[in-house]
Formats: sequence, C-alpha cells, structure tokens
Amino acid sequence: MTVVEKALNGHVQGRARYVTEAASHLLEAGGKRFRPLLVLLAAEAGPTPEADEVVTAACVVELTHLASLYHDDVMDEALLRRGADSANARWDNLVAILTGDFLFARSSELTADLGPDAVRIQAETFGRLVEGQIMETVPPEPGADPVAHHLDVVAGKTGSLIATSARYGAMFGGASPEVVAALTAYGEIVGTAFQLSDDILDIASESGESGKTPGTDLREGVPTLPVLYAQASTDPADARLQSLLDPRVSDLATDDALHAEALTLLRTHPAIAQARAYVVARSAEAKAHLDVLPAGPVRGALEAFADIVATRSA
Ligand code: IPE
Ligand code: IPE
Ligand code: MG
Ligand code: MG
Repeated sequence: MTVVEKALNGHVQGRARYVTEAASHLLEAGGKRFRPLLVLLAAEAGPTPEADEVVTAACVVELTHLASLYHDDVMDEALLRRGADSANARWDNLVAILTGDFLFARSSELTADLGPDAVRIQAETFGRLVEGQIMETVPPEPGADPVAHHLDVVAGKTGSLIATSARYGAMFGGASPEVVAALTAYGEIVGTAFQLSDDILDIASESGESGKTPGTDLREGVPTLPVLYAQASTDPADARLQSLLDPRVSDLATDDALHAEALTLLRTHPAIAQARAYVVARSAEAKAHLDVLPAGPVRGALEAFADIVATRSA
C-alpha cells in the first residue's frame, strides 16, 4: 500500500498547478483505500502477488473511484468528503466535473499498460458504475419492486468496481481462471454490502465519523435500504415517518426540522436492524465464494475483509 500511495500521488499531477491542486485535493484528504487494498489482497491468491501490474491495477481502481467521488458529490450536492470540503464546495461544479474527468483519463491511461483485456474490463466496469448512478436518479419502472431496483443500482454503482478490484488482483497475481471468477463474484457481493453498510451509517452515524455529512441521502431524496423497508411497512405507527419520507408531502432538502425528525425516527426504526441483517447475510454469501481457496492467511484475510464490511455499520 505504501508503494501504491506513492504512485497515486504521481498520477494526480497535472501540467498546470491548478489542475494538480484540484486533482490531489481528495486524494490527500484521506479515504480508506478499500479498493486498492482488495487488489493487493486478491493478488495474494496467485503465484505473483508482487507483479508490477498488481500495483498498477490498484492505482487504476482507486483513480476510477476518486473520479467517481468528484462526480458523485456534484450529483448529491454534498459539501463534505473525506473530512474535507468536497471539490464542488471548495471550487464549483465545473471544476469538480472536469477534475473527475481528468482523473478518469489518468486511470484509463494506466489501464492501457495492463493490456486490452484490462481495458475492456475497466470500460465495462465504468459503464456499469455510471449506469448505476443514473438509475439511482429515476424511480423503478411501474410495478417493479423498489428494493430489487435499489439493489440493482447499488450493484452497478459500487459492486462493479469492487468486483473489478478483486478480479484485477486475482488476474495479475496469476491466479487460475476458476479463482479469478470466484473472487470476482466475491467482490461484487462485498461491494454491494459495503455500499448498503455505508448507507446505514449515513443514517445511524454521528457527524465526523465518516468524513461526510450524515443524513445526506435523506436530504437529497436518495433511496436507501432502510428507507425502502420503512416505506414498505404496513404498521400504522409508521404513518408519520412515511409522510416525512414522501417527497409529495415533505421537502427534507429545505426543511431542517422535518429532516431532523425523519432522521431521529429512522435511527430507532426496525428497518435499520432489518437492513443490517441483510448486509450480514450478503457478507456470508460473499465468503462462500472463497471455498475455492485453500484455508490459510489469504483466505482468512479475505473472510475478515467481508466481515468488516458487515460489522462496520453494526
Ligand atoms: C464511498 O466509498 C462511496 C461508497 C461506495 C459508499 P468509500 O467509502 O470507499 O470512500 P473512501 O474512498 O474511503 O473515501
Ligand atoms: C457512491 O455514491 C457511489 C459512487 C461514488 C459511484 P454515494 O452517494 O452512495 O456515496 P457517498 O455516501 O456519497 O460516499
Ligand atoms: Mg454521495
Ligand atoms: Mg450518490
């Protein structure tokens, strides 16, 4: 990770000082480096975990992620990211969008060093990610199950890149096609669970813990699993919360008092425990894909990685 970190710093340098400043802003602000870590971990499942391509792939996924954060904060009108001002808050939407594009270009350039298969995977991944982000902004088709629509969105916007992180790691670590396929499936589920956990934290956490502003999803009307569960409840006691969550009745984006009330009601609602139980079940499902690996430290670390995703919102 030290080598990856150093390389990442180099990749965000632009020709102009202003570009470098905007592009390095969120990299320097922090972040968990969850995706590059997964690349390195998955690479341990093969015979060549120290290959240069593994480090390059780790940079590719973090740069793609970073680019998507610049764009996501514009979409979500978020002011805080990684404990710092978001790029749209610090500068404006134009700078945030173009800096995201710049970072995505850097990521693509690096992917070319990994060969045509990696380029195709990267393109497909980014397509799924962006399509997930777009589908989040539209309601499900009439008659479609809102939870199924949501899970599809989450698999696209977050599961895809985390699946590719595990896949690249296994590929460039030289693992067998069987192991590559299993770790890809593992990554897709872990990634989906990771996003669902993050969404629970957006409701349950206090300010400061996540480096983001809690309650942002609710304020922006972005559906999350606990909200969808609460909306589906038939308990009459949920009528007040349901009317707060209904954008035709309440505007949580502009009314701070209603937003605070909705957040308080949600924090103690059984929908939170229900969402957590779903995440724990998905994490167990992800771990089942690790059966292709021999028992040992690598499998143990990947199991622990799936556990952390489930427990971080507990
Ligand atoms: C944020 O991703 C977006 C989600 C998928 C929830 P991370 O939680 O990995 O963000 P950083 O990289 O640690 O800031
Ligand atoms: C995360 O978006 C997904 C991508 C950036 C592609 P979210 O809006 O759900 O995540 P946070 O809460 O802003 O990190
Ligand atoms: Mg967001
Ligand atoms: Mg978003």
